[in-house]
This record gives sequence, structure tokens and C-alpha cells, in this order.
Amino acid sequence: MDRFSEQAATWDEEPGHAERARTVADAIRGAVPLRADMHVLEIGGGTGLLARALADDVGTVVVTDVAPGMVDVAAARLEDPRYDGWSARQYDIEHDPLPEERFDLVMGLLTLHHMGDVASVVRRCGELLRPGGYAAFVDLDHDREGAFHAHVHDFDGHHGFTRESVTHWMDAAGFTDVALSTAGTVVKGEPGHEQEFPMFLAVGRID
Ligand SMILES: C[S@@+](CC[C@H](N)C(=O)[O-])C[C@H]1O[C@@H](n2cnc3c(N)ncnc32)[C@H](O)[C@@H]1O
Repeated sequence: MDRFSEQAATWDEEPGHAERARTVADAIRGAVPLRADMHVLEIGGGTGLLARALADDVGTVVVTDVAPGMVDVAAARLEDPRYDGWSARQYDIEHDPLPEERFDLVMGLLTLHHMGDVASVVRRCGELLRPGGYAAFVDLDHDREGAFHAHVHDFDGHHGFTRESVTHWMDAAGFTDVALSTAGTVVKGEPGHEQEFPMFLAVGRID
């Protein structure tokens, strides 16, 4: 994930990134009963934009990412006293051993499509939840033409997902009350040639 480490220093200032995180935070607020004592894990969290957008709604967050450059920037952002008790860690949600720690909410924004075995990652996220805990995954709806990543020459992830696939993976992982909704769109492209890519929000609970 060198590409993401290289982009980390300017990630928050890239057009649309911060606004996207705020829009997705609103969608999560509407779909998950958030509480001020929640202990949260963000997977593929990059600089922690989404977590920081939810700072007034949850307790503590562990922002994780596989790219060390992203983790460094996240750690620097979390030095602000408003993120007291939060941390940033390098963690590969697909391949690293599961930690002992358990969470009330596991969330990820535009990160599942970079995983190889998505069903396994969804299952691992479920295992990281305390009983009654929620997962909230936001990612691209299926992008049939692969237009979203057309400019990334070495892209080896998924061109988004059908909502049926995500529902199936969450059901198979033991989530209940699985619900998918629309979390907004990502706008990409040169001025005058922008394209909009819809994103789903998938929420489920482990009882
Ligand atoms: C499109 S970026 C999104 C970053 C952040 N969620 C945001 O919306 O600003 C995808 C992120 O997923 C991370 N990632 C990819 N595969 C991962 C894995 N197996 N474990 C943890 N993070 C991963 C990348 O390093 C990258 O930071």
C-alpha cells in the first residue's frame, strides 16, 4: 500500500475527502445507535477522517491502516486534546492476527474494495465486536466498467460490490438486522468530465 503512504501527507486536503467523510458520518449517525461511551475500531482508516467526523458521537477510536504513512499522519492528527484516549496503529485487517481487544463499533470507508477475501474480512470484523456491537461498512456500489480505478495502473482490488454480495457476506458472518442504504456519492474526474460513483452503507449487529 505504498501508494497510500505517498498520498498520506496531502490526503485530508484532496478535494472531496473531508466532505465525503462528513457525509458518511451523517449516514452512520442515521443508521447506528451511537453512544458517547462506544469503543470504536476504524479499519483502513487512512488519516482518520471518518473517525474524527464522529468525535462528538462516540467515546474512543483506534484508527488502523496497513499503510505506515497513513498511520503517521493519523497519529499526528490525534495529538489534538479532543481525541484524548484515541490511538493510531498499523494493522492489516485481512492478514494480521486478531487482537484481544473488542469493540462496540467497527467501521470502514472505501477500504473493503482493497481486500482480497472480503467475506473473510467481514467475518473478522464481526469477531472483533462485543455482543451488541455494530459494523458499518461504506464502499462503492458495483462499478461495472471499472471507471473508478481506471487511472490506477496497478489496481488489484474490487470494482465495488453488489449490495446482494455484501448482504450475503454479513449474513454468513452472523450479523443480524443487516441493512443497506445509500451513503452518498464520490465525484471523480477532471472539471467538466466528472463522474459520480454511489456508495452503500452496510450496517449489521452481532448479538
Ligand atoms: C481509499 S483509502 C480510504 C482511507 C480512509 N478510509 C478515507 O476514506 O479517507 C483505502 C485505505 O485502505 C487501506 N487498506 C488497504 N488494504 C488494507 C488492509 N488489508 N488492512 C488495513 N488497511 C488497508 C489503505 O492503506 C488506504 O489507506
